[in-house]
Formats: sequence, C-alpha cells, structure tokens
Amino acid sequence: MALQDKKVYIETLGCQMNKSDTERIFGILSHFGYTPCEDENEADFCIVNTCSIRQLSEDKAYSKLGVWGKMKKEKPLKIAICGCVAQQEKEKLLKRFPYLDLVFGTQNIYELPNLINLEGRVCAVREKPIEEKDFNIIRAKSLNAWLPIIEGCNNFCSYCVVPYTRGRERSREPKRIIDEAKSIIAQGYREITLLGQNVDSYGKDLKEKPTLAYLLGEIDKLEGDFRIRFTTSYPTDITDELIETVKNSTKICECFHIPMQSGSDRILKAMNRRYDRAKYAQIVKKIRDNIKDVTITSDFIAGFPSETYEEFEMTLSAFDEFELDYSNTAAYSPRPNTPAAKMKDKFIDEDEKKKRLAILNDKVKEMSLKSNEKYVGRTLEVLVEACKNGKFEGRIRNNKVVHITGNDIQIGDFVNVKITKASTWCLFGEYKN
Ligand code: SAH
Ligand code: SF4
Ligand code: F3S
Repeated sequence: MALQDKKVYIETLGCQMNKSDTERIFGILSHFGYTPCEDENEADFCIVNTCSIRQLSEDKAYSKLGVWGKMKKEKPLKIAICGCVAQQEKEKLLKRFPYLDLVFGTQNIYELPNLINLEGRVCAVREKPIEEKDFNIIRAKSLNAWLPIIEGCNNFCSYCVVPYTRGRERSREPKRIIDEAKSIIAQGYREITLLGQNVDSYGKDLKEKPTLAYLLGEIDKLEGDFRIRFTTSYPTDITDELIETVKNSTKICECFHIPMQSGSDRILKAMNRRYDRAKYAQIVKKIRDNIKDVTITSDFIAGFPSETYEEFEMTLSAFDEFELDYSNTAAYSPRPNTPAAKMKDKFIDEDEKKKRLAILNDKVKEMSLKSNEKYVGRTLEVLVEACKNGKFEGRIRNNKVVHITGNDIQIGDFVNVKITKASTWCLFGEYKN
C-alpha cells in the first residue's frame, strides 16, 4: 500500500489537553502520509489517547483495545495506545495486549516520526519532555480551538494521578502561543481556549516570568471577532492581575472554572489542597465583586477516603454558599501511586459513594437550572455554532447552550438573542434581525 493511502483513527478520552494532543498527533502523522478518518472500521492505524484520572477512564481504553484486537484478526491493522494510561503502565501494556503494536507516553508525541517506522512492537515512554517541533496541527471541526499554554502539575493533590502522567509544570514560550493564536484567528476560529492543568501557574518556570494575564491581554489585543477562554484555575493561584484583565477585556469570557473538590476543611487538608473553605469564599467574592455576570464552575469529588456524611453535606452547602453555576462531579477512585490510594482502611463503600454522587448530581442540576433561569428575559450575545434539524444553536459568553429560533443566521455569527426560556442544561431564545 502506498504511504499516502493510510488512514488513522484516534479515539480520544479524557480532558481537553488530550483533545489538543490528538490534534497534534494527527498533524504529525499527516507529514507521513496518514489522513485522519472518523470511522475506526476504515482505519489502517487506530490509536487510543487515554485518560487515567479514574479507573473507569482507564477501563474505557482497554475495552477499545479489545474491539480493535478483534478487528485485527480480520485485516491488517496497526494499534497504538498513548496518553496518561500509556505514561503510567508502559511495557505492561504490551504484555497484557498481545495485538498492541505501539505504546507512547505523553512526552513522546514529537518522537512519533521515528516511532511509527520502527520494526516490531515498541514501547516509548520518556519521563522528560523533548522540545516542541513545528508540525501541522489538524484541529477538530469546530469553532473553538484549544491552545495549550502549560502542561503538567506541581500540586500533588493526594487523589490525583496527573502529576505522574503529565510531569512537572512546563510553560510554552509566549511567542509560540501568541503566534499560534494568530494562526487560529486567521483560520476563522471564533473561540480560543487557553489550556493547562493549572493555567494560573503559567510562566513561573520561564525566564521572563510572563503571566496568564499577560498572555490573555496579548491575545485580547489581536484583531478579529473571537472569544477567549481559559481553564483550569487553581483557587489560590488566581491573581488580582488576572481578575483585572478579564474585567477590562471584551473578548475574554467572564467564566472561571475553579475546582473546589470538597466543602469540608478536613477533607481539603487530606486532599492536600492549599486552601480552606474561607479562602475559597474570599476568592469567589473578589471575582464576583469585580466582574459583572461572572460564571463560576467547579469540580467536586464524592466519597474521598474517610469522608463522613456530614463532611459530604458541606460540599452540598458550598454550592449554595458560592452560588456555583455548574460543577463536574466524580466518585473518588483510587489511582496508582497516589497517597490517598494507600488509605485503604478509610475507603468509603462503593454503594455509599454512588449514593453521594447521585445526591451531588441532583445538586448540580438544581444549581444549573437556577443559574439558567437568571438569563430569561435578557438579550445576550450568542455565538452560533451548529444547525441541527433546521434549528440553530450556540453559546452565550458564559458557555451555556442556547437553542435559537429565527432566520438569517449563519454558523459562526455573533447574534443578539432574547432568552425566552430556561431548562436545566440549556436556554431557549429568539433572534430577530
Ligand atoms: N487541575 C485541575 C483538575 C484536573 S483533573 C484541578 O486542580 O482541579 C479533573 C478532575 O478530576 C479534578 O478536578 C477532580 O475533581 C477529578 N479527579 C481527579 N482525580 C480523581 C480521583 N482519583 N477520583 C475521582 N475524581 C478525581
Ligand atoms: Fe490533579 Fe491537583 Fe494537579 Fe489538579 S491541581 S491536576 S487535581 S494534582
Ligand atoms: Fe485524564 Fe490525563 Fe487529562 S489523566 S484528565 S487525560 S491530563
């Protein structure tokens, strides 16, 4: 088969950082004759880009490999695993999945050109990153472009695997990021999301110490009609400079994703988070006092080892106290190498964790509806993103989805929509030109 005929399929699990890595992997492979395809059945090369944040995410990757293993009995197929599970499990994966051809870690992406042509079964997982190289990036078909600014994490929260799978914090050079932003805008994207496990740590490891606020300010100055977002923020790392920058900008959306993880001070300590409830309250207050119409979202874990029901209830009350607009939620899942996974005698029973998670999810629904209802009757700027069954939909600045009735709209337009109705997960509105 000629090189040019090869098709590559990537199944991407996990966070936006993985989505962004997939776009880079597609880009690198395109230099070597591989075209991305959307149907795994048509592919010559299948890659699963994995997430290790919970056991469930890890299991998803293995079941995908199982499906491809069966496909490989019918036709020639190259199978690879990359991402956070690959970084952790390394050679063990080659042993466990005999049909697997290639394992590569989160720091080996720019080595792919060498790896894909090696004979035999290969495992390449390096601990230290190598320098970024200039390859294409093949971004997902969307109006939003992911723009990684910092990778890794130095926080070592006691439950979390990320510092082990992504290594220590490393910021990309500001010039690289701003050039990439310019190219994203030139390609017609309407939204840029600056990405990092901890975006507020941006620049601390660079000589000139550029900050997240500086980067946002520079991108904000670029010509064009587009929105800017950033995620994820660590509560105590949010600076006054950042709040000011968001406040004074027209392009940066008024959204802060600030995972709190638990409403209980004792659990926060056990999680090795560097704040307590009072400190979180101060930060939220400062943001709300300064930025009108700001949306604050969070992440919480239910059933961390030793969490009592009363402590769990403190998480529920945090939603009301901080008027959170939305939160991601998860039941605690023990992860390899993490300190919390060693607290076996304090693990919460699976059924109890599920029960707490269900209660937490009901709370999220209640808060989301309450937050959405605030917008009814207002006219808001919507970025039109899709047309499904003849109906347009888009998102307002705080990221909520709006279903729009009205004509003369095109995907990619910014339009003013009168919000007429709210439901738990979305808004409804009318556009009149
Ligand atoms: N850097 C971000 C979050 C990255 S991981 C932060 O500091 O908040 C995304 C989310 O996954 C976390 O916020 C946490 O809520 C959840 N998570 C991480 N490890 C987990 C575990 N072992 N069990 C359950 N949820 C977990
Ligand atoms: Fe994980 Fe904590 Fe780092 Fe977030 S800050 S990625 S939860 S270790
Ligand atoms: Fe998962 Fe790795 Fe992201 S563990 S959440 S894919 S950094």
